[in-house]
Amino acid sequence: MPSSMKARLDALTAEVLARIQAAETAAALELIEQTDLARKGELLGLMRGIKDLPPEDRAAFGQSVNQAKTSLEAAVAEAKQAFTTAAVVAATSDACFDPTEPGGSLPGGHLHPVTQVRREIEQIFMSLGFSVVDGPEMETEEFNFDLLNIPAHHPARDLQDTMWLEGGRVMRTHTSPVQLRAMREAGGKVPVRVIAPGRVFRNEQPDATHEHTFHQIEGLMLDEGVSVADLKGVLRLVLSRIFGGSVEVRLRPHYFPFVEPGFELDMRRTGSDGEWLEILGCGMVHPEVLRAGGLDPDVVSGFAFGMGLDRLTMMRFGIEDVRWMMSGDPRFLTQF
Ligand code: DAH
Repeated sequence: MPSSMKARLDALTAEVLARIQAAETAAALELIEQTDLARKGELLGLMRGIKDLPPEDRAAFGQSVNQAKTSLEAAVAEAKQAFTTAAVVAATSDACFDPTEPGGSLPGGHLHPVTQVRREIEQIFMSLGFSVVDGPEMETEEFNFDLLNIPAHHPARDLQDTMWLEGGRVMRTHTSPVQLRAMREAGGKVPVRVIAPGRVFRNEQPDATHEHTFHQIEGLMLDEGVSVADLKGVLRLVLSRIFGGSVEVRLRPHYFPFVEPGFELDMRRTGSDGEWLEILGCGMVHPEVLRAGGLDPDVVSGFAFGMGLDRLTMMRFGIEDVRWMMSGDPRFLTQF
């Protein structure tokens, strides 16, 4: 092997080693890694000279370069470790440090108030034989509107300010499309008893009572011979459980395109002659919607409802501004 190249390798190895030993910070060591020991550095650059060597010397020289590189890398790693150890020793050599002292506890999280109330309501419905189902937040125009008896150009479209997406898709403006998905999932069979909680989206300018993102719970109960009496009975029972104690409910006629008749349901505590509180929208599922779900309206009937989960949560906890709900602000969240 020509002694000049071997001599250059040895000299370079010694120089880099000296730099490693002289490094005073971990950052200095990293710089050495990124320059001296880098692929483009001088050390590995020596490899390029290999082609000028006699063939019988090439393998041995390549090996020497690699060995030099490996040992220098080990030296860097060792030096880095020494800095880490030194830092720990420095931090712990404080006279007050007591390694037997228990550690401080991390702040514990908990469920969001909306999640707490949602889970409670899910439990109540499950105890009545309902299942909890899910639907996509990004819906098709067809499921969000058309199949729910809200055709394009019908004024009912304007009841919900919609966030339109590309390709005929929308951020769902309500959980009602899950009704159709549940009916189709059931393949034309009844009974269907489901609730579908989830996020919904409207093109709203947020204020104390409006948000662009909020939560609803949709409900659907279908069978042969389901009547308005069932609707009223089930919802009264559920609201009694949610609010703890007996409540009375009343239905006021209201227009929703996907039910006929449609109602707004108000409640108040039994025996109180206080104010009626408007609590949810509901009605008997419209024949067109039953057909769209693959059911025969001459055989099957049922009720549907949609309630605002944020409002219920706000009532439960005495929260005044809906914008807090999605704020993620710990000053708000830690109160529940
Ligand atoms: N989807 C309605 C809304 O967001 C709420 C609603 C009303 C749902 C009546 C229903 C219903 O299922 O029967 O305004």
